[in-house]
Amino acid sequence: MITVTKLVKRFGYKTILRGVDFEVQPGEFVALLGPNGAGKTTFLRILASLARPSLGEVKVAGYKLPSEAAQVRARLGVVSHLPLLYGDLTAEENLRFYAQMYGLTNYRSRITEVLEMIGLETRRRDLVRTFSRGMQQRLAIGRAVLHDPQIMLFDEPYTGLDQDASTMLDDVLKTVAAQGRTVVMTSHDLARAEALATRFDILSRGVIAASAARKQLKKSNLLAFYKQALAG
Ligand SMILES: Nc1ncnc2c1ncn2[C@@H]1O[C@H](COP(=O)(O)OP(=O)(O)OP(=O)(O)O)[C@@H](O)[C@H]1O
Ligand SMILES: [Mg+2]
Repeated sequence: MITVTKLVKRFGYKTILRGVDFEVQPGEFVALLGPNGAGKTTFLRILASLARPSLGEVKVAGYKLPSEAAQVRARLGVVSHLPLLYGDLTAEENLRFYAQMYGLTNYRSRITEVLEMIGLETRRRDLVRTFSRGMQQRLAIGRAVLHDPQIMLFDEPYTGLDQDASTMLDDVLKTVAAQGRTVVMTSHDLARAEALATRFDILSRGVIAASAARKQLKKSNLLAFYKQALAG
């Protein structure tokens, strides 16, 4: 589903990604972990075609990036730091805009379903710029899953969510995983990552420093594995 070979990303003279090799099979749920500044967001932005690689090959859903970005985007759902929402549109109008962009037909019922799922049905006619941060994050999650994409990229999706919304997101992620969707999620919440992911990759010093399948890790051992990968 995702194949990354020798990916390098530079910002000016700083090299953030130093030859990342990364492969995700259909139906895998990869937790991408690593310290602040490791390059997780940079990496996900490249996978989402929101940033360009400096060097290396990136293939998502069988399409090359950056040259086939339109095909990739149609198959992706993304939750990023920038919520990709329009402040001067209502919640409902934002979802309608994306539904049309994704070419969904009969999207009215799907939009209502998503608004109920994210708990914003009573605020559907309010402008997004009047939303609290957590409400914007809820809508960003709704936007990402709206078109039921094959691949979902979630960058710290729990940030800013209250208890109810976090539980909602747990359920959303469990559901998409059960449906065989492919997920890559960054998080600093190791307990949550451990509960959801089938594989744990540690990004450190510009490369994937360690990777373990859930089966390889003993229960509640993710923290030890993480620390060892950073020390190594
Ligand atoms: N547009 C940019 N221009 C210059 N440097 C950048 C840019 N975007 C990111 N960086 C740098 O790249 C490095 C990695 O940043 P990134 O946001 O990818 O880290 P991260 O692993 O997501 O961290 P966090 O856990 O804090 O979210 C940082 O040193 C950051 O300053
Ligand atoms: Mg980040």
